[in-house]
Amino acid sequence: MSKHVAAKRHTPRSLAALETPVVALTAYTTPMAKLLDPHCDLLLVGDSLGMVVYGMDSTLGVSTDMMIAHGQAVVRGSQQACVAIDLPFGSYQQSPQQAFQTSAEIMARTGAGCVKLEGGVEMAETIHFLTQRGIPVIGHIGLKPQAVHTHGGFRTVGRGDEAEQIMRDAQAVAEAGAFAIVIESTMEPVARAISEAVPVLTIGIGASPACGGQVLVGEDMLGLFSDFTPRFVKRFGNLGAEVDKAAAAYAKAVRSREFPGPEQCVGMPKG
Ligand code: KIV
Repeated sequence: MSKHVAAKRHTPRSLAALETPVVALTAYTTPMAKLLDPHCDLLLVGDSLGMVVYGMDSTLGVSTDMMIAHGQAVVRGSQQACVAIDLPFGSYQQSPQQAFQTSAEIMARTGAGCVKLEGGVEMAETIHFLTQRGIPVIGHIGLKPQAVHTHGGFRTVGRGDEAEQIMRDAQAVAEAGAFAIVIESTMEPVARAISEAVPVLTIGIGASPACGGQVLVGEDMLGLFSDFTPRFVKRFGNLGAEVDKAAAAYAKAVRSREFPGPEQCVGMPKG
């Protein structure tokens, strides 16, 4: 008699204990989560879905309901990766209590293992509040896409005086209890120094090979999203071209009445 043993899902604690770099990708849907899950330690339901899936020009229009719907889809489609869900803009910055309410709703309704939020020193009190109340938190420093208007665009940060501020952010987020910190689009020496200085897992995106893990937007690395390609993206596939080829073949087959054929129809004589 065979017994099915469910794969054990990564937890914040098991991610932090990994001896090899943490492999993370964003995922927003069940089919993509199914494809990526066997290869990833962490699947992030990033609020980048506003841009990648919904065609928004920033992440600011993403709502908690959108994050919950996509979070549920990714949890359903994955078995072994830890699933992290972004707290969207406006759903946590007002107070630690607001952040707790949003995080608790997201975690209860999706089954995700943790949440991620953007911010450094200014978010330390909130991170402490959440982690003391059972919500594992990933911080996000460096380029913070929800602050795109105060950053002055999607740009690499950490030059000159910014370097010290980002280091202070990292230390505050780690001391507040975050188990991991995403460092985005930050000068390499700064991201490296942070990874060496803080006692928690760092996950880089446009940061440094010295980070404890790496994350990319799934659609970016698969070549499925080409509206905007930051320098730090490396394409590991070119699925956009494959989709184009398949759609063209489908259109041709429909127009020539080659599709559907007898194999796809019921009761149609073959030949
Ligand atoms: O929203 C997102 O996808 C992210 C990653 C870029 C880290 O925050």
